[in-house]
Amino acid sequence: MKSIQAATYLVHFQEQAYLELNTLIAQKKYSTLFILVDENTFEHCYSKFIPNLDTDKTIEVIEIESGEINKNIETCVGVWNAITELGGDRKSLLITLGGGVITDLGGFVASTFKRGIDFVNIPTTLLSMVDASVGGKTGVDLGVLKNQIGLFSNPEMVLIDTEYLTTVTDREMKSGMAEIIKYGLTYDLKLFNHIKEHKKRNINDLIFRSIEIKNEIVLQDPTEKNLRKVLNFGHTVGHAIESFYLESEDKENFTHGEAIAIGMVCESYISTKLLGFSNQKLNEVKETITAIYGKTTLLTEDYPAIMDLLKHDKKNVNGQVNFVLLNDFENHELDCKVSEELIVESLDFYNA
Ligand code: GLY
Repeated sequence: MKSIQAATYLVHFQEQAYLELNTLIAQKKYSTLFILVDENTFEHCYSKFIPNLDTDKTIEVIEIESGEINKNIETCVGVWNAITELGGDRKSLLITLGGGVITDLGGFVASTFKRGIDFVNIPTTLLSMVDASVGGKTGVDLGVLKNQIGLFSNPEMVLIDTEYLTTVTDREMKSGMAEIIKYGLTYDLKLFNHIKEHKKRNINDLIFRSIEIKNEIVLQDPTEKNLRKVLNFGHTVGHAIESFYLESEDKENFTHGEAIAIGMVCESYISTKLLGFSNQKLNEVKETITAIYGKTTLLTEDYPAIMDLLKHDKKNVNGQVNFVLLNDFENHELDCKVSEELIVESLDFYNA
């Protein structure tokens, strides 16, 4: 599989990627290699990864606790301290081996340690392969508010090895699938149709095409001034739902993808009310998403808290919630203003 050229780095695939990583390590003459893992990737991915490293550099493993709830500044402090205690310096390399929490948090830790050290992303979940590890967004949550603290900072390379997907659950695979559906609805309908029609398409092809799309968008608008906002389709409502369940200790959390899938149904509904998105297409979106993720009921008594979180979305300007909506498949409109009443109506539509 050929590599994808991103802004300042390459996304490499499968076995070839390890050769590229070893070349990078040799060329850059790193002092120490730090590998950031969580307990799951340490158990299931580390032993697969490590034999591929061909280096005599010192390797140090830093483990954090898995889960979105740990994607915060306290965890970063722990990692900064660990790197310091283990003798990290400006020539250290941080390799992130894990899902979106590891790649987002690890990229942030590396970009801020001693004003920035190099990092390489090795995503091990579908979600982090098709989204988090590519595009230069790094950061952590502030309380339950997602990705409020962070910076744009590019890795030295991204290594995609789909063998790691054998270590993740079906639920995690579906979580990543939501981002592929997003690329399909907003950019390349073929992706959506493949998922809708349960066509057998090699997962490697879906991943490659998703990264290609994301990269094409990010190259045009790396810091999300304009076009990159399209990648937030489904995320305005979705992030609020995800955050709400994260802070509700008595309720089971949604995965990122499950929340974003609900967000895409709601935002498709709003698109029918404010733009030209047809009811027939809305039903296609809802049926496809319900078939994959099942049906959850959002309790009306939870709406006010979800609406409150929505008002903290980092895309808001002057307190105004901004949406990406669809005129049609593959045809979006940015910065759409939506009333609270219509957002609530969209939650009702999802529930109906
Ligand atoms: N996950 C959306 C973006 O990278 O812009």
